[in-house]
Formats: sequence, structure tokens, C-alpha cells
Amino acid sequence: MSSSASTLARAARLYEAPVGKKAVMAISGVILFGFVLGHMLGNLQIFLPPGIDGKFPIDAYGEALRHNQPLLYGTRVVLLIAVIAHIISAIQLATLKIAARPVAYARYTPIASSYASRTMYWSGPILAAFIVYHLLHFTTGTVHPSFRDLHVHDNVIAGFSVWYVSAFYILAMVLLCLHLYHGIWSMTQSVGFSHPTYTPKIKLGAKAFAIVIAAGNISIPLSVLFGVVK
Ligand code: HEM
Repeated sequence: MSSSASTLARAARLYEAPVGKKAVMAISGVILFGFVLGHMLGNLQIFLPPGIDGKFPIDAYGEALRHNQPLLYGTRVVLLIAVIAHIISAIQLATLKIAARPVAYARYTPIASSYASRTMYWSGPILAAFIVYHLLHFTTGTVHPSFRDLHVHDNVIAGFSVWYVSAFYILAMVLLCLHLYHGIWSMTQSVGFSHPTYTPKIKLGAKAFAIVIAAGNISIPLSVLFGVVK
């Protein structure tokens, strides 16, 4: 067997074990988290005024990304692979969990699991549905009331001027917050890291990150609804 074939076979064997699936989930989660952070920072440019050329910085940013084809398509491919890997490993881990406990507890009283951890398996599918809606809204414009390609500023303002669309985004961002909080935190548990001093700090850091991302994103529809950005 060639060395690359044996590396593949070893990777496949590792993936068979729950720890392999958890590793795939963690790695794809880190990639998605990196995108969500970068995307939020990019989107916050909505608060910047137009430059001397009259162009909104977020429009110039959108154009620059669109014209950098290797970056755009490279990012899209990596994101697609990460999303598929994240979903498949989540379904397989959930199936293993159910198989390990086929009979439900007579009385289920969650002790160690937090509210966020119990929401993972339903916040995940709702977030996946949100992403599909979001792409149809701001990328293809299919479900947008007045979409104009490369006019990101106007598209965002018009999109969030519809209150129930903004409400859906805000709800999705609250779920994203819970999902990120538990995801970042449980990743450290999956790699076996547990320390009396650092574990509570990691938990606090995960909470802070998740809140910053959700708050940054939520500030956009709220600012449109309250006329802060026009
Ligand atoms: C209020 C929060 C958000 C706003 C205002 C926003 C805004 C946008 C806009 C304007 C685009 C289109 C950019 C363009 O085509 O020029 C876009 C694309 C996208 N957004 Fe968001 N977004 C938000 C939250 C999110 C979240 C939470 C996720 C993921 C969980 C996400 C994932 C994506 C993806 C995957 C794309 C497609 C990127 C591509 O073209 O390849 N967005 N977003």
C-alpha cells in the first residue's frame, strides 16, 4: 500500500471511533467559528459612513471580495466541506448516543448538562435552515424585496427594514450564541482538557466570545429597525 493510501486508511479507522468523529466536529467547528468571527467584523462596516468617493466601505469590501475569485471560491469550498463534515459527524454522534441508551430514562433530570448543551441538537438544524434562508436573502437575493447585486449597504438596510425578517435574524443569533458557547466549551472537553483553575476560565471565555459574536450581529438589524443606520 502506498504511504498516502495507508494514511487515508488510518484516518478512516480513526474516524470510526467516537473520538475521531469528535475531532472532525471540533476542527470543522473551529473553521466555521473563524468564518463567523471574520464575517461579523466585515459586516460591522455597515456603521461606517461613505468615503469621499461617496462609496460605502461595506460596498467596497463586498466588491473587493467578489473580485478576488481564488479567495472567494477557496473560502466557499472550505466552508461547504466544513459544514457537511460538521453536520455528518453531529448526526453520527447523536445516533451513537441514542444506540448507547436505547431505553429512555424513566425520569430524566439533567445534572451536568447545561441548557446550552441540550439545545445543540435542535439549534444546529435551525441554524442550518437560517443559513439557507440567509444565502437566498443576501447572496442570491431570491427572497429579498429589492436586491441589487454588489449594493451590500442598501441590501442590508432594505432587508432588515422588514421587522419580521429582523426578528428571525435576531432569534437565529441567540441560537448561534448558545451553539457557539456550548461548541467552544465542549471542544475543550472532547480533547480531554480538564483543569480546576483553567476549565472555569475557558467556560467564561467561551461565553464571552459567543455573546460578542451574537451582540455584534444583532446590533445590525436593531440599528436598521431603529433608524441608526439609514
Ligand atoms: C446580522 C448578521 C449578518 C449579516 C448582516 C450578514 C450579511 C451578509 C451579506 C450582506 C452577505 C452577502 C455578501 C455579498 O454577496 O456581497 C452574506 C453572505 C453570507 N453570510 Fe452572512 N450575515 C450575517 C450573519 C451570518 C451568520 C451568523 C452566518 C453563518 C452562521 C452567515 C453566513 C454567510 C454566508 C455563508 C454567506 C455567503 C458567503 C459567500 O458569498 O460565499 N452570515 N452575509
